[in-house]
This record gives sequence, structure tokens and C-alpha cells, in this order.
Amino acid sequence: MSGSLDTGTLACDALDGAITAIAAAGCETPRLDAEVLLSHVLGVGRERLLTDRELTVRGPAVRAFQNAVRRRAVEREPVAYIVGSRGFRRLDLTVDHRVLIPRPETELLVEVALSLPRGVRVLDVGTGSGAVALALKDERPDMHVTGSDLSEEALALARANGERLGLEVEWLRADLLTDVPDEFDAILSNPPYVAESERGSLAPEILRHEPAEALFAGPDGLMAIRALLAQVAARVRVRLVALEVGAGQVPAVMELVCAAGFRAMRAEKDLAGIERVVVGER
Ligand SMILES: C[S@@+](CC[C@H](N)C(=O)[O-])C[C@H]1O[C@@H](n2cnc3c(N)ncnc32)[C@H](O)[C@@H]1O
Repeated sequence: MSGSLDTGTLACDALDGAITAIAAAGCETPRLDAEVLLSHVLGVGRERLLTDRELTVRGPAVRAFQNAVRRRAVEREPVAYIVGSRGFRRLDLTVDHRVLIPRPETELLVEVALSLPRGVRVLDVGTGSGAVALALKDERPDMHVTGSDLSEEALALARANGERLGLEVEWLRADLLTDVPDEFDAILSNPPYVAESERGSLAPEILRHEPAEALFAGPDGLMAIRALLAQVAARVRVRLVALEVGAGQVPAVMELVCAAGFRAMRAEKDLAGIERVVVGER
């Protein structure tokens, strides 16, 4: 990006330079990334970048934008970590390196839970940023929602998100269901489900920047799901379990859900048509 601190650089020119750098680094959505980063740095909506031909990047914003583009292009840092937030359902969540960036497909877990009766107690296992637990509480305030995680750091961020959004969710540090009170009617989880063998095929955005403990689950990716369902089997109060799974894991997870005592099973597809959430009811 060229231009002096005095006159600055037209936003459209700054944007063009950033798009070129981000595209050259091999990122999939260079224009979108550059627009989101520049609108974040300037504190304006993205539409303003396109409509205001006089908009200029000057002063501290020059360095801030250069730094953001370097993080995206050179370090391959995800845009959500650079800007510090990600939308999920109706919420704007704070995210940082302590947590996985919530994905659109995970919204399916919330959709499944919306059909539960009034007043039920729901546990979101492996809550990360609190995305599922908070979105559910936002859309169904009648439910008693708890989010749990093994990571103290993730829970601190989830709690902060809850406080900022004014949503009353309980937070619990636990290894899956170990020592968790037997009071839940439904369990939702987007657990780690990436097989160790897939490590090499992950995008640098994921491998270098997202927490490994949020991603990997043993040789076949099913370690956490297997352990969770073995615990759920003994919890007869749980009437519904909904688990996000990796592409191709549905048959194996359905077997595990069945072995845990759930009979009515189905798989919900994500927007890409991939079977993504396994639901079991009893
Ligand atoms: C794939 S991330 C999901 C985060 C969040 N629910 C979301 O969808 O954006 C998995 C989460 O499970 C947590 N986790 C990993 N192992 C766990 C365990 N044994 N018990 C509880 N949480 C665990 C990780 O810390 C991480 O926050």
C-alpha cells in the first residue's frame, strides 16, 4: 500500500493492493477478506468501501491495515481472529486463539435444539466461544442452558461473551461428562473430530491458528465422540443427543449413538449437503 501519512491512500487503491497480496498467498476469498479487514480498521460498514469513492486510509489506519493484511497473507491467520469477532446465528461473538472459530454448519445444532419442549435443561459439551449455548439461550430463553469445556481459557472467553451479550448461561469446566451433574435432558456437542491422519491436509488457517485440542480426536477422529457417548449411555435422563461430526463419520457415529441406547436416529445435512449432525432420541 503506498501513500504518505499526510494525504493517505484512497480506500479502493488500498483494497486492490490487499486483494493482490491475499490472493497471491493462496487464500480462498481475497476480496471478501480484504474488505472485512479494511472496514474493521476504518470502523465503517463494508458497503461504504464500495460507495464512498473519496474514502481514504490515513494516519494510524495505514499501519493497522498493513499489519492486518500481513497477518492474513503471510501468517494465514483467519479473518475472524484478526478482527476479533464472528457472527453466529443472531449473535456477534468475540473470538481469539483460545477458541475454535464457530462455523456456519454448527448452527444446525441450535436448530435441532429449538424443537425441544419448554423449560428443558440442555448441555453444550465443548462449548468453545460459547456459540451453541449462547445462541440457544438467545433464541429459547425458557431453556436452562449450560456450556462446558475442558479448556479453562475457552470457558473464560465463553463467560465473557455471555456477560457482554446479557445471556444467562451456566459455565462448567469438565472433561466431557465426568463429575457433571446428572440433570440434563439434552446434550449438544461439536466435539473435536479430526483424525490425526488428516493433520497434513488441513488448511494453514486451521492447523497453525486454531487450538489443537479443539480439533483432533485420535487416529480415527472418533475418540471424543466414543468417550462422550459411553458416558451418555448411563444417563437415562438424557432424551436427545445431537453431535456434529466430520464428513463420512455418520455411519460410525450412528452405531455409537445406537449403542448408547438411542433408537430414533437421523442425520441432518449442512448447507453444502454434507450429513453433519447426528441426532438420537429416546
Ligand atoms: C470443535 S471445538 C467446538 C467449539 C464450539 N462448540 C463451536 O462449535 O464453535 C471443540 C471444543 O471441545 C473442547 N474439548 C476438547 N476435549 C474436551 C473434553 N474432553 N471435554 C470437554 N471439552 C473438550 C475444546 O476445548 C473445544 O472448545
